Amino acid sequence: MKFSHDWIERNPWLLIALVVLVISVGGAVEILPLFFQKSTTEPVAGLKPYSALRLTGRDIYIREGCYNCHSQMVRPFRAETERYGHYSVAGEFVYDRPFQWGSKRTGPDLARVGGRYSDEWHRTHLNNPRDVVPESNMPNYPWLAKTKLDPQGVIPKMRALQRLGHPYSDAEIAAGPEELKDKTEEDALIAYLQGLGTLIKSRN
Ligand code: HEC
Repeated sequence: MKFSHDWIERNPWLLIALVVLVISVGGAVEILPLFFQKSTTEPVAGLKPYSALRLTGRDIYIREGCYNCHSQMVRPFRAETERYGHYSVAGEFVYDRPFQWGSKRTGPDLARVGGRYSDEWHRTHLNNPRDVVPESNMPNYPWLAKTKLDPQGVIPKMRALQRLGHPYSDAEIAAGPEELKDKTEEDALIAYLQGLGTLIKSRN
C-alpha cells in the first residue's frame, strides 16, 4: 500500500503530536548550538563587566524607559551599518542582564552611540533635546542632573551579578560606592551611553 498522509490528517491528536515533535526537533537543532558556539558565548576582546557608575547609569536608562524609543542593536544591513557603524555581535552583550536590544525605533539606535557626542552635548540634550535637535520629540529629563546617586545602592547589584558569574572581584565591589560619590543620575547615564558599542570600531 502506498503511504498517504491522509490518515495523519484525519487523526487530529496524532497530527498535534507529530507537529509538536517536528517543531521541538527543529527548534532544538537551531537553538541548542548557540549555547556552545564561541561566537555567541565569548565576550568580544576587551569586554569587561559594567563599572559601578555605568551599571547605575544602565539602571536609570531602564527606569526611564529609554528602550521604548531606542533599540540597541545594529542589524547587518547596509542602510544600518552606513548610518550607525559595525553591526552588533552577540559577544558585546555578554554582561547585559537583561539586554536592551529592543525593536522600537522612535529615536535612533544607540548601540554605537558611545563617543559620538561630547558629555556636554548629552547634558544639554537630556535636559531639553530641542536645544540641540530642534525637531526632536524626545522628552526632557531635567531631574537627572538634580538627583544625587545613592553610592551604597550599587553594592547589592554588583554582588548579585557576581553570583550570576560576572567577574567582579570583591575589591571592585567594595570600591563601587567611591566611584558614585557626589555624582548625579545624569553623570551615571552619560557614562553608560559613552561606553556603548565602543569596543568594535565603526567605519564612520
Ligand atoms: C518618546 C521617544 C523617546 C524617548 C522615551 C527617549 N528618546 Fe532619545 N531620542 C528620541 C528621538 C526622536 C531622537 C532623535 C532626535 C534627537 O536627537 O533628539 C532621540 C535621540 C537620542 C540620542 C542621540 C542619538 C543619536 O545618534 O543622535 C540619545 C543619546 C538619546 N536619544 C538618549 C535617550 C535616553 C538616554 C533616553 C532615556 C532617558 C531617551 N533617549 C528617551 C526619542 C526618544
